[in-house]
Formats: sequence, structure tokens, C-alpha cells
Amino acid sequence: MPRTSLKHAAPLGLALLGVVVTAFSACSGSSGGDSGGGTVDAAQDRVHVAPPEFDSGEDNIDAGPLCVNGVSVDGAYPKRPTAVELGATAPNFSWDGLDENGKALPIKLADYFEPCAAKSRLLVVRVSAAWCGTCRYGLLHTADSKQASFGKRLRFLDLLVADEDGNPAAASDLAAHRARIDSPDRVAADPNVSFVFMPPPTLLLPLYVLIDTRTMGIRNILSDPDPAELAYRLGGELALLDGQAQPAYPSQTLVDGQWSANQWALISEIKTPGAPPADPTNEKADDVAAAAFGKALFSDQTLSPSNMVSCATCHQFAKGTADGLAQSQGVGHVDRNAPAIALASFARWQFWDGRADSQWAQATGPFEAAKEFGSTRLFVAHQIYANYKPQYEAVWTKYPLPDLTDMLRFPSSGMPGVPAYDAMATADKDAITRILVNVGKSIAAYERTFRVQPTKLDTYATGDFAALSGDEKKGLGTALKVGCFQCHWGPRLTDDAFHNTRFPTGKQDGTADPGRTAVVTNVLSGQLISSSVYSDAPAAHSGITHLVAGGPLVGAFRTPTLRGITESAPYGHGGNLTAFADVVKLYGNAGLMPGDPRATGTSEPCLPKFDTTVQPTLFPFLQLMTANATAP
Ligand code: HEC
Ligand code: HEC
Repeated sequence: MPRTSLKHAAPLGLALLGVVVTAFSACSGSSGGDSGGGTVDAAQDRVHVAPPEFDSGEDNIDAGPLCVNGVSVDGAYPKRPTAVELGATAPNFSWDGLDENGKALPIKLADYFEPCAAKSRLLVVRVSAAWCGTCRYGLLHTADSKQASFGKRLRFLDLLVADEDGNPAAASDLAAHRARIDSPDRVAADPNVSFVFMPPPTLLLPLYVLIDTRTMGIRNILSDPDPAELAYRLGGELALLDGQAQPAYPSQTLVDGQWSANQWALISEIKTPGAPPADPTNEKADDVAAAAFGKALFSDQTLSPSNMVSCATCHQFAKGTADGLAQSQGVGHVDRNAPAIALASFARWQFWDGRADSQWAQATGPFEAAKEFGSTRLFVAHQIYANYKPQYEAVWTKYPLPDLTDMLRFPSSGMPGVPAYDAMATADKDAITRILVNVGKSIAAYERTFRVQPTKLDTYATGDFAALSGDEKKGLGTALKVGCFQCHWGPRLTDDAFHNTRFPTGKQDGTADPGRTAVVTNVLSGQLISSSVYSDAPAAHSGITHLVAGGPLVGAFRTPTLRGITESAPYGHGGNLTAFADVVKLYGNAGLMPGDPRATGTSEPCLPKFDTTVQPTLFPFLQLMTANATAP
């Protein structure tokens, strides 16, 4: 009987199904359906059920032969019902891809269907994102999986769902993705994230979807498996397909008695950042005189007509280079939280929404922001002329200041959109903008000298196992397990990408902050982007020429570094998460509920979700994130 045989063939799948089913049952419970004799834990409002028997999946896989007399009964692809579900027949998705040799071709699941093969093979569909820290180990160790005894019985298909910034993957991202894989087979762009198992929050990247090529049945789903687990599941599924006994669980050496190889790889990447990467878009990026000039400008309140605001107002070293406020206060009340900026020179993008793509362009923004300096580029230029002419011209020798005492040519205040400025001669407008840009580049040179101090975690990551206490290691373990390292990884513990985590707005009217989606025009065609005439290396531009507002950009913000969070409370773009407990509680629920008006858009499918007993174990890990930023 099909039913019985399937149950025999299923134990590996069921082991994982337990996880998925808990989540499924929450859905069936809330719709009032029969959740399979589950019990409701009132405190958690979750339903716990024993793993159910397969439903549709069972029928799908075993509903009669797919091959008769060496010919496929169903033609190109099984005609039976398909679904993205454990046990179901996988839908015949198709994608833009690259073949084994890197040549472009369309790829569809039907390409893998071999109903008449003597033995099943296992198609390993690996779902990852270019920003994803936890994805990288597996991509770099594909050959290990293939070399195991089941070598030729595995086919790998790598699906890329998003690029390094978190934009939906495109065919043009595939060559770079192929280069991330030690032993690439086929790769394909999957911007629609075909393999989302509902509801998503339980599944962390990378995802391995194991498909039987004789039936196209989804045999198993592995979420961020360690190498031993992966080898065990691959071998186990093949053994079951062959009707043989499952292999024994392989032994593995754990670093410091607890970390699998992929976990330790992530830990050992945590290193104290030193000097930031070169910035060719700023010819004075590492010029000592420019940095000294920038230092003076950084705390100069005369650049604001209010005479009360400077960069240092909101970026104080005593407050971790932030301001300690929920939302910043300049000449007005800003809608967002001031981030710590000690490591900003490392980032590809600046601001929570990434509307600037260079450090110097960022530094021009606050002057003309109505609620920050409330200043204009003409006002700034006049102040530079009055107070810094020799110093400015000593650094910016290529750009002698025009005669700014001529108030008819250069009105006292104005910027694009202000009639006094717009009416100026084009060359004069350019001269004024150039002063603003050079002010920005000088401040950027100063910010590039900021440094942070090593943490205990950095010491631990070098292999000094005594550097962390038991609770701190436990916190690190939780962060690894619940999925924080998908986005917070590397020396600064950030992927610099944009994600929707459904954090609460900081806007005074309580409406959600749209984030990345609102800045697309500026990113592509703003006056001061790094491909503009004001850049010293237009070719070093991000390369983004095509970015579409909407979709995953709605409500997306850039992942901040975790270094320095012990000093820079409160948290999030809106700044209304007062303490670690608030951040962790929010993550525990995978962000604000859908429909909560304080956030907009759909949360990243791989957001962590964990219960209140797990939450406090993260605190000792977060407490390790000191920065003690210094500037010369
Ligand atoms: C009124 C307070 C205020 C002032 C003044 C101010 N900032 Fe900020 N700064 C902020 C806030 C708030 C943000 C986040 C804004 C956003 O993302 O929309 C920010 C963002 C930044 C960032 C981006 C950091 C990152 O990781 O994205 C840098 C760098 C920075 N500011 C430097 C400066 C410099 C340089 C000046 C002076 C020219 C300055 N700030 C003036 C409040 C301020
Ligand atoms: C999908 C990517 C992603 C994952 C996974 C993730 N984060 Fe974040 N994290 C972000 C983004 C994006 C923000 C900024 C969100 C905002 O303000 O809208 C953020 C903000 C934070 C902040 C606030 C920092 C500040 O300076 O305001 C902390 C703390 C933090 N995350 C810790 C964690 C922990 C702990 C985990 C694991 C439980 C985690 N994150 C998992 C992307 C992620």
C-alpha cells in the first residue's frame, strides 16, 4: 500500500517536519480548522501538535507509476498536483540561469525529472542570498558534499534570491554568485523566492530542498544545516530511496567543544576593524590636512544659521558617536534615530535608507536638512569664506574660492529649489556646490580616522577560548542558532544590506517609515551620487543603474553594525526600542505583526522567531558589543 510504504520512507523527513508543522498548525488553529488534536499554550498562543501523517504530499508521491515501459507517463513533468510543501510534488518552476560552464540558459525543474532512471538521484536545490552570512560556508564547501560516497547521485541547483544589497536577484547577479561556490553546477536567479514554505519565519537561510528526481517529490527541507547534518541527510535520503538502511550520524569535531565548522567559520570572521577601505571617490580621503580641517568643521555650530547645531551635536563620542535620543534633535525634531558613526566609513551605503552612496555625499546632507542644520549650501559657503579661507584653500588647491563678498552673484542663503539659488549663473551654482562637496570630503577624511577598540569577542574569535564566560558563549550560540548571523556577520557584524525587519517608526505622526523604497530616485540620479561630476572616481560607483521602488524595498532599512550598541541606545531607525530587551522581544516575534501601522511592507522571510525563554540568553552576547570609539 502506498500509504504504508511512504511512512517507512519518511522518518528523515519527519524529523524536520516536526519544526515545520508547529508553524503550520498555528495557521490551521487560527482558521478554526482541526489542528490534529493539538494543545494550545495560552501564554504563548501557539499550538503544539504531534507531527501529522502526510496528506497531499503522500498521495502525490505515491499516486501510481510515472514510468511505464521506459517512457514517462506524464510527459515532461508530473501532472499530479504540485505544491511547495514537504512530501508534495515540486511545482515546475523556471528561472534564468547559468549552466555548469557558466553559459546563460533557462532552467526549469522539469530538466531534472527522470522518471525512468534505474535509481533516483537527489536534486539539491540550495536557496541563498548574496548578503547572507550563514550561506557562505556551504557554498564554499559544495565539493565536500559531492565527494561523499553518494557523489554522482547528487545534482546541485543554486538559487539566488537576492543580491548583496537585498534587491531581488537578477540574471546579471549570477556570475558573481557562481564565483561564491567552490564547485558550481547550475545557478539560477529566483527573485520571487519560489521555495517559501509557509509560514516562513521558521526557515533560516541557506535552505536545502531535497527532491527525488524520479518523482520530483520534495523529500526534505534543511534550514542552515551544519556540515555533519547535511551529509547525514543527503546520505540518508539516498539510502531511503534505495530501500537501504540509513547511515549512522557522522562524528564531527566541535571547536571549543561546541561549534560546528560552519559556526566557527562565522565566529572567526569577527575581527576588530582597523582602517576603512580606500575611497577613490574622495581624492582627499586619507589626506591629513583635510582630516584636520574636517575635524574643525565637524563641531562648528556656525555652519548652522541657528548657531546651535553641528555634527557633534548628534554624534558625540561620549554617547558612542550617537546622541542618546530616540529621534535626533537639531533645529527641529528628526524622524529617525542617530546611528553610531564610528564605522560608517566601511559601509557601501549611508543612512538607514542608504540614500547616499559615499561618505562625503552623506556629510553634505545634514547641512541642508531642514530639521538638522536648517542651513543651505550658500550659507555654508559664506561661512567657509569668512572663517576658513586659508585652511580651505590650502587643502583644496584645485578649487580657489570665488569672491563671495559679491552678494549679488552669491546671495547669503539658498540651495536647489530656492529661487535665490536657482536664479544664479550655472557656473556660480557649480562653484557653490563644489564648496559644499569639499566640506563633505574634508569631514569624510576626518571620519575615516575614527577607530574602535577590540572586544572580548574579538579575542575569543582568535581562538582564545578563555576570553568568554559560559553565558557569553551561550548567547553567541543563541545568536547563531536563531539566525542573527544571516545579516549580522563579518568584522562589523553587518551585511550592509537592506531588509524589512518590521521595526517601529520614529515619525511623529505615527505613520510607518517607507525606508529604502522612498530613495530610489536619489540613489539613481541624485546630484551628488558617486558617478556624478563631483566624484573623483565616477567609475567606482555602486554600479546600480536599475532599482525599482516597491516590493522588498518597502519598509527596508540597512542592517546596522552591532559594534558599539552597548553605548548607542536607543535602537532601530525609529529609535523607540529603548533597551536590548525591546529589540530581542521584537525579534522573538519576527518584528511587528503584519497590519501593525507602525511598520510597512512584508518582513524578510528568514527573520528569526523564538520564544521568551530564549530571549534573555541573547543579552550577554549583545553586551559584548562595545566600541569605545576614538578619534585623533
Ligand atoms: C540633528 C542631529 C544630527 C546632526 C546635526 C547630524 N546628524 Fe548625522 N545622523 C543623524 C541621524 C538622525 C541620522 C540617520 C538619518 C537617516 O538615516 O535618515 C544620521 C546619519 C549619519 C550618518 C550615516 C551613518 C550610517 O551608518 O548610515 C553619518 C556618517 C552621519 N550622520 C554623519 C554626520 C555628519 C558628518 C554630520 C555633520 C555634517 C551629521 N551627521 C550631522 C543625526 C544628525
Ligand atoms: C534579515 C536580516 C537581519 C537579521 C536576521 C537580524 N537582524 Fe538585526 N537588524 C537588521 C536590520 C535591517 C536592522 C535595522 C532595522 C530597522 O531599524 O528598521 C537591525 C537592527 C538590529 C539592532 C539595533 C541596532 C541599532 O544600532 O539600532 C540590533 C541590536 C540587532 N539588529 C540585533 C539582532 C539580533 C540579536 C538578531 C538575532 C536575533 C538580529 N539582529 C537578526 C537586520 C537583521
